[in-house]
Amino acid sequence: MTECAVWWTTPMTATDDALGVLDPDEHARYAAYRRAEDRSRFLTGRVLAKTVAAARLGADAHEIRFDARCADCGRPHGPVRIPGSTLELSVSHSGDRIGVAATDGTAVGLDVEASGRDVDDSLRAYVLNETELAGLDGCSGPAGAEAFFRFWTRKEAVMKATRRGLRIPLRALTISGPDDPPRLLASTDDAVSAEAVRLADLDPGPGYRAAVAVLTDAPSDEIDVTERWWDPGTRTDGQ
Ligand SMILES: CC(C)(COP(=O)(O)OP(=O)(O)OC[C@H]1O[C@@H](n2cnc3c(N)ncnc32)[C@H](O)[C@@H]1OP(=O)(O)O)[C@@H](O)C(=O)NCCC(=O)NCCS
Repeated sequence: MTECAVWWTTPMTATDDALGVLDPDEHARYAAYRRAEDRSRFLTGRVLAKTVAAARLGADAHEIRFDARCADCGRPHGPVRIPGSTLELSVSHSGDRIGVAATDGTAVGLDVEASGRDVDDSLRAYVLNETELAGLDGCSGPAGAEAFFRFWTRKEAVMKATRRGLRIPLRALTISGPDDPPRLLASTDDAVSAEAVRLADLDPGPGYRAAVAVLTDAPSDEIDVTERWWDPGTRTDGQ
């Protein structure tokens, strides 16, 4: 059984203590965001991820250093990892929701999306392939949007678990329909095989959809997910 812990929170205040958790690369990224809400989501994700890592590693969040180098360009905007540690983390943010998923030694990907947005045909066609679109047939209005975000978050969670993200074409993955248990049914991209993926839908609260994926070599392995809420005021991981 692969254990996966997920924490949810809302954007935190940029106190000196919170900003003190960021390293120089993270400060540069924080300062480069033009919109206050983007800065806040980024800060909250890093503070939460470092708080989770610190609790697991017996350290203080200020002592945790992430390597977030991008595999393509080397700039520090890639997935976070802690050199020398088996702890795997995935960060996701959308609207007022920020989440972090953690596993020990198993690649993990988390995705959360605000699901109140309009979904037009071009977005649907960008994200979903023909098989998935057929599964949405006749699903319109709010129900159609909810179903779409179920597909999207499951799909993006898988892509993030591979650490390749959107380098995998969205339509290369075929995900089970929104009313079926979450599963990767097929992949035409070499970076991911359907047998290796375990998926779970999550509950980030009203107005949001989320999913988490782990990659495993064990054919009978299952995923055991716990979800918690994190209070930035306490700066503990809530366990
Ligand atoms: C990762 C990616 C899917 C993010 O999607 P999103 O829905 O906008 O954002 P989310 O909030 O869910 O995820 C953002 C987090 O994903 C993580 N991340 C970044 N690149 C990632 C990747 N390749 N794989 C997995 N996770 C990644 C980061 O921790 C980031 O959080 P941060 O802003 O605190 O650094 C998308 O940006 C991507 O695919 N990037 C890689 C492709 C790319 O940009 N290539 C060109 C680089 S030069």
